[in-house]
Order: sequence, then structure tokens, then C-alpha cells
Amino acid sequence: MHIAGTVIHAPSRGELEVIDDACVSVNREGVIESVTQGEAPTDALTLAPGTFLLPGLIDCHVHAPQWPQMGTAYDLPLNEWLQQCTFPMEAKYSDLDFAAASYSSLIDTLLENGTTTATYYGSIHVAATQLLADIAKEKGQRAYIGKVAMDNPDQCPDFYRDASTTAAIDGTRQLVEYIRSLGTDRVQPVITPRFIPSCTDDALAEFGRMASEYDCHVQTHCSESDWQHHYVLERHGLKDTQSLDRFGLLTDKTVLAHGVLIDDEDMTTIRSSHSGIAHCPLSNLYFSNAVFPARRALDRQLKVGLGTDIAGGASASVLDNAAMAINMSRALEEGVDATAAQVSRGVDDTRIDFRDAFWMATAGGAEVLGLNAGTFAPGNVFDAIVLDTTVAASDLRVWGDDSAEDVLQKAIYGANQNNIATVWVQGEKVKG
Ligand code: GUN
Ligand code: FE
Repeated sequence: MHIAGTVIHAPSRGELEVIDDACVSVNREGVIESVTQGEAPTDALTLAPGTFLLPGLIDCHVHAPQWPQMGTAYDLPLNEWLQQCTFPMEAKYSDLDFAAASYSSLIDTLLENGTTTATYYGSIHVAATQLLADIAKEKGQRAYIGKVAMDNPDQCPDFYRDASTTAAIDGTRQLVEYIRSLGTDRVQPVITPRFIPSCTDDALAEFGRMASEYDCHVQTHCSESDWQHHYVLERHGLKDTQSLDRFGLLTDKTVLAHGVLIDDEDMTTIRSSHSGIAHCPLSNLYFSNAVFPARRALDRQLKVGLGTDIAGGASASVLDNAAMAINMSRALEEGVDATAAQVSRGVDDTRIDFRDAFWMATAGGAEVLGLNAGTFAPGNVFDAIVLDTTVAASDLRVWGDDSAEDVLQKAIYGANQNNIATVWVQGEKVKG
């Protein structure tokens, strides 16, 4: 397959590359063989004027069972939100019909938005999480999926808790083995201790051993909010990164959601373990009490991608989160309290721009997951979207003298799912 048109991607952080008259050639396995410029083969699919080929968007942190609740309940702090709204919602996934309807709707919506890869938390239920994997496979989305583990009776309610530590461990094992038996590389298992408060030390230690035994991904929440950060300090006398590290849970396949409160020492720990961070700017606005220092993390060469954190964030769109990552970094740099003196209102040198945000939405997310994707480099999988700037049902308006960089910038702020004309995952068309 050959696709001819204008390519926009971010081969390295802070840098965009625009290739006019490009031809991307993809082999039968869905892997990019070459990117050439100039004359394309006659059988090439040629993109229409006003459309652009972009890497697929990567969402590094989604709570699949929270989909029905997105857009509600943002007036509570994190732990009350979990106990009063989120755990009751997730408990409903013991019902497989409900799970099937919700998960189908979620994956359809993410694909419509151009999300070619998503990293999912499931519920505590093995069967519903297996169903999530089946639906991702059937719909063709690249998906990293874990059964959420929460076995700590002190923090998890009777109605929504693993029956025992053994059940949390065995259920996790069952899910890993089930996903590995699906016979597709596109769906991968993830060991998923919800966060330290939800899990006993026995479970956390076993998950660390399992991560190395299976050599598979790990995801958890790290230093997300003041309450959570201090809970871990009190229980373990350690910060999240230190505690996770001693359990063997910081690996080069670990995705740490949020990380808002990480300091320089945490960044060093994360960098030396080659773990990645899912930056969830919309969610952080409500649940984190602070702004994630994205620029500092990127400058220290941490791996950082974006996460919608559905339903902690009220948008399913990675582009919306890219825009919010820029917005929140500006608030951090400038400060937000108008009564404070201007010189001390914000934090110097913390802003990111649309290039950084787009990088996190694509290549940065791929780096977090250890995936050969996110740019159009030969050898990468062809996970891609066509951005259509000509559709009427959108606020995205392009004018004659807009450059391709202008188009991308406008798309981050103004594109909606109508502007995502085509979506491919590993060369297979899943939208359009
Ligand atoms: N910490 C533990 N569970 C959750 C969750 O579901 N969402 C967010 N944002 N933080 C969490
Ligand atoms: Fe989360």
C-alpha cells in the first residue's frame, strides 16, 4: 500500500517535519517500508487537497469502565470521587452485557477521534476485562489492557474489591495469559495495581515479580494528588517512586499515570528505571492539586506521553489533551493568582508549545509504551490518521497562507472527530 500526500510528524521532541509530496509505502504486515518524496506509484492512494497524513494518536491512560461517567462528578476531591462515584460505576462491570455495550462505545469513540493506541485500566473483573481485549482486537485498535488490582480492605469498599490478595494475583495472571493467547501483537497485557493505597504490600510485591516473570507492561498511578502522595509517605515512609521501585514495579515497561508531585529525585529514579509518564492535563486540573511539570520532565529526558484519564478528564480526545497540556503549562509559568506579585506568580521556564504537545501525543506516547510507532520512520508500524481540514462540521478553518505547521497548531486547538477522515492501525483501515 502506498499513500501519497503531505506528511506532518514530530521525529524528535520540539521538532516538526513536514514532507510535501511524500509517499509512504507500507508492507503486508502493516510496517512502513519507505518514505520517499516526488512521484508516487500509480496505485498510490493520493490524499485530497486540504488533507494531511499524521501519526495515529496515542492515549497512555484510560479507565475503560469509567466511560459512562465521563463529564460528571468533577466537584469532588480524588478519594471521595473514587469512593462515591467511580467505584460504584466500575462495580457494574460484573454485568457482561453492560460491559460489552460500554466498551464497544468507548473503543468506537476513541477510534473516531484518531486514537490508534490506548492503554486501558479495566475493572476488577477478569471476564469483563477479557471482553475489553476481545472488543479491541475485533475493532482493530492497538490496546494495552490490565485487570485493575485492588485488594486492600482499608481503602477499597466491600462492594468493589478483589475477593482476596490471592484473587487479585490470580486474576491478573489469568488476564495476562488470556491476552497472550489471543494471537495478536496489537493487544498486550498490563499488570495494573490501581495505586499503592488500593493494594496490600503482598500484592504489590507479587506484581513486581510477575512483571519480570512475564516481561510485560505495568501501569499504576504515581504521586497524583496531595492526599495520595501523603498516604504513601505515611504508610511506607517513602515517596511513590521509591516504594514502587522497591517492589520491582518501575521497569522500562511501566506507565506511571499523572506524576504531578514528582520532584527532581523522583525524576532521577524514573529516568534510571526507564519508566514512562502518562501526562493527563485535563484530569490533573480537577484531581491533582497542581500542574505536572511537563517541560522539566521532557528536559530531563523522561519518557512522557499524554493520557485522557477518562473519566478523570472530561474529553476522549488526545488532541484536546494536547491543547490542555499547553494551556496548563502556561498557567504554571505565568501563575494564576492575580493578587500575587507578577514576578513571583508563576514558575519560570515551564511552558511547552504545540510541538512538544504533538510530540507527546504521538512519538512520546510510543516511547512510553516501547512501541515502534508515532512517526513515519521506516520500520515503524503504520498507525496513522488523515486530518481533513475541509469538513464543514468543525471549527477548524484553514486559510490560503497557512503553513502546514499552522494547520497542525489549529488542529490541536480546533479539530474534532469529523476532521479525522481515515484511521489505520498497522496498515488496517479502522475508520473511513
Ligand atoms: N487513582 C486511583 N484510581 C484512580 C482513578 O480511577 N482515576 C484517577 N484520576 N486517579 C486514580
Ligand atoms: Fe487514572
